[in-house]
Amino acid sequence: MSKSRPFDEDLYRTLANSSQAGVYILQDGKFQFANPHIQEYAGYTEGEMLGMDSLSLIHPVDRAPARKNAIRMLKGQRFSPYEFRIITGDGRTKWILESVTSIHYGGRPAVLGNSMNITEQKEARNRLEELEALESSILDAIPHAVIGLHNRVFNFANNAVKSVFGWRPEELIGKDVRLLYRNDREYEEIADLFYSALEKQRTFHTEFPCRRKDGVEIICMVRASRIGETLRERRIVVTYEDITERIQAEKELEHSRQELRNLSAHQQTVREEERTRIAREIHDELGQTLTALKMDIAWLKHRLPAGLNPLHAKMRQMSTLADATIETVHRIATELRPGLLDDLGLAAAIEWQAADFQSRSGIVCSAVLAADDLELDRDLATSLFRIFQETLTNIARHAGATRTEVRLERNGDRIVLTVADNGRGITKKQSENDRAFGIIGMRERAHLWGGELSITGSRNEGTKVTVAIPLPRP
Ligand SMILES: Nc1ncnc2c1ncn2[C@@H]1O[C@H](COP(=O)(O)OP(=O)(O)OP(=O)(O)O)[C@@H](O)[C@H]1O
Ligand SMILES: [Mg+2]
Repeated sequence: MSKSRPFDEDLYRTLANSSQAGVYILQDGKFQFANPHIQEYAGYTEGEMLGMDSLSLIHPVDRAPARKNAIRMLKGQRFSPYEFRIITGDGRTKWILESVTSIHYGGRPAVLGNSMNITEQKEARNRLEELEALESSILDAIPHAVIGLHNRVFNFANNAVKSVFGWRPEELIGKDVRLLYRNDREYEEIADLFYSALEKQRTFHTEFPCRRKDGVEIICMVRASRIGETLRERRIVVTYEDITERIQAEKELEHSRQELRNLSAHQQTVREEERTRIAREIHDELGQTLTALKMDIAWLKHRLPAGLNPLHAKMRQMSTLADATIETVHRIATELRPGLLDDLGLAAAIEWQAADFQSRSGIVCSAVLAADDLELDRDLATSLFRIFQETLTNIARHAGATRTEVRLERNGDRIVLTVADNGRGITKKQSENDRAFGIIGMRERAHLWGGELSITGSRNEGTKVTVAIPLPRP
């Protein structure tokens, strides 16, 4: 027995030195032997380790539990290896998995330790746990229902399925996704949509009617993406966003916009009709009465005896006054509604308005009317004429221009009116101001006919207003 001992020790040393595990022997808590592997991960040389107190290598926090586990294992009360952290020679923390056995060494009781550096595995596991925690907190922070499906069966659901659908997540797991839809037909329809789209692309979304647990129907924005490169396993993730209220609000908004448009169209028609009626009345009634009055004055003038000079002078004044009044009545009637518009059409009315504007404002106004043979709808002609009048008013009031040019032309299947001046130029801010009611009115008139109005200005080079309205197909 004693003969073979040196041979055995050599063998064991060789075994220990070539081991991929950390092998060491302790006596009285101090290292008597440490193989190269443990030296390497502990970061100490053999010389430094021999005689070192083994507990001093362990992380202070883990010292007591590691010691307790070692004692229990040595007493046969524990069989599985235990984990703890060490602080290496260069100050790093590493995770160690260890088991210990009692042996005799040099004729005295000793502890044989077997250890493994599990730092990398431990860190990978921690990262994975962190990722999983992050994943579930992200999923719970999302206000949309997020579910995982495998062959149309729930294998995952986040907390928001409760607020969107009224189901608790655990109620859904293992069930068929049919639960979220209104009927079998729609359920098949959306499944077809998803699975055929996701064959070709990674993600797909659509608006779709769904049903809550309490039976209430909702509209959802449903977005799906497949898990993995192909759809072979039919594993997908789907999110549902309840957009019922948004859609309702959009509908109501569109409805009230339409109502407002109708109302404004109606008011414009009523206003134009009213103006036409008043213009006709003023022209016919007042005009005729005044003409009669003028004829009476002339009659009287001829019959006045000569020599009554003051009376003759009065008569002349009365006659002049009657002429001026007739002219005023005529002007008011024309301003209310130019008869030309009804009698000779838009081009003639624009030409007259341009000349009138020039003589009143002193701003040169040239008109190029290339569409004067067009037979326009009476209301459309009125709209274009009113837009034209508003642009002239704006030029007189804001532009500081000396020249303006108006063009009326046909461009394909659209009629286009352009009014350009050489004034200070409107700014974007002015033309897009939501209190620019003149401009809003012009735009609204153009929209009523399915057309568009654009206003551009460049500083000190003028402003250009363009209205384009599609012509009805013949
Ligand atoms: N031809 C133009 N040249 C320069 N600025 C203009 C011109 N036309 C309009 N603007 C600017 O755009 C603004 C908005 O015009 P808009 O016709 O909407 O309102 P307004 O003429 O001020 O008032 P109203 O409601 O009586 O028409 C004007 O106040 C003016 O500053
Ligand atoms: Mg204006």
